[in-house]
Amino acid sequence: MTEHFQVHGGARLAGEVDVVGAKNSVLKLMAAALLAEGTTTLTNCPRILDVPLMADVLRSLGCAVDISGDTVVITTPATLSHRADSASMGKLRASVCVLGPLVGRCKRAVVALPGGDAIGSRPLDMHQNGLRQLGAHSEIEHGCVVAEAEGLHGAQIWLDFPSVGATENILMAAVLASGTTVIDNAAREPEIVDLCTMLQQMGGKIEGAGTSTLTVHGVDALQPTEHRVIGDRIVGATWAFAAAMTSGDVTVRGVDPHHLDLVLEKLRLAGAEVSIVPARPHPPAGGRGGAGPPPTAGQAFRVVQRDRPKAVDFVTLPYPGFATDLQPFAVALASIADGTSMITENLFEARFRFIEEMVRLGADARTDGHHAVVRGVDRLSSAPVWASDIRAGVGLVLAGLRADGVTEVWDVFHIDRGYPLFVENMVRLGADVRRVDADPARA
Ligand code: UD1
Repeated sequence: MTEHFQVHGGARLAGEVDVVGAKNSVLKLMAAALLAEGTTTLTNCPRILDVPLMADVLRSLGCAVDISGDTVVITTPATLSHRADSASMGKLRASVCVLGPLVGRCKRAVVALPGGDAIGSRPLDMHQNGLRQLGAHSEIEHGCVVAEAEGLHGAQIWLDFPSVGATENILMAAVLASGTTVIDNAAREPEIVDLCTMLQQMGGKIEGAGTSTLTVHGVDALQPTEHRVIGDRIVGATWAFAAAMTSGDVTVRGVDPHHLDLVLEKLRLAGAEVSIVPARPHPPAGGRGGAGPPPTAGQAFRVVQRDRPKAVDFVTLPYPGFATDLQPFAVALASIADGTSMITENLFEARFRFIEEMVRLGADARTDGHHAVVRGVDRLSSAPVWASDIRAGVGLVLAGLRADGVTEVWDVFHIDRGYPLFVENMVRLGADVRRVDADPARA
């Protein structure tokens, strides 16, 4: 990869930014389309690399997938292939979410172990245990999760941890099982609620979406539907942190501010003025093709930072706790804050690798196990740095905005996996960030 971003430090971000559908929702909703024969339409989809990759996974199973602007149309055949082991499987984490639907529809699945961000160990034991309790036999064989069942039946399932992916896979298998399934200690993320909403539109019988107890009454078959993907709260939070770090004034549209209650409260503690601003209507369903401004949902919030941010502590936890995906932004904010912050990472141990790159930029940060202590400095200094995953890459760009000189962020393909129009939005808000194609050997 020869592309990198050049981030010129010193800009104050100001203006409005539109956020489209969530990466961590759309990919699961695409998998859910496997559950019903016929044509499912998803709108407000982000134009990110992971969407065509997931489309390839679905095509390898026999679906026809058409991506046009922000609309993804999936036509699922009566008979699906049960083998999901194409090359695309290893390129994203969410590919594992075809496991539940395939077991539900085909009663057997061979699903290649997924790829995705290198943020620490990401086992599938809870996914497999859940399927076993529904009546499937499941093993890891030759790099694939293999699951087979005579028939699926309802069960009482307690998750050891409210895993997002395990909740999704078990839910998507249970909707077509006979009888009632109760998933306790289920994940409560807004993306889980979005999946439940779509499954309900398809005829699934689910109670308790957004709580830690999901009750699923199995049905014989589901129907295809049309569904609008919820706004990406992680991308929305990115712009909120960018405003807080650059003494900026940014209005974020397209994300439900309540999905960011804790995040916005933390930014208030850091000294930001945060307000909910008037809504704009949704655009008409069916997408907007290739041109025109991005669609917006009916909610918005504004973050204004006047003084240097104050140090704030952050602890990552499952929703409604502070999202682990936002931890790099918390570290970036802490690195220039007035005072010392403690950041605790409870989900993915390798996420602190990003701190080594922050140190290259002059951050005063050290880690001890799953804690990081960050003493804010007045100014960071530019350096070449490397993105190790989507959010780490964006965290480095945010830090670069506060560094003197030009920070080069390499391996930006990670950022392209999760952020539509990232550089364009940065520029629209007044940042000097450029995508450059150059020889990495010199870096
Ligand atoms: C999803 C998100 C990711 C986010 C994470 C937590 C997608 C594509 N990715 O990942 O961006 O950071 O939720 O909000 O939606 N675990 C087990 N066994 C399992 C499953 C998980 O031990 O069978 C552990 C993991 O190692 C981790 C924790 O549970 O420590 C949470 O993982 P999980 O919620 O499953 O995250 P993902 O669904 O992989």
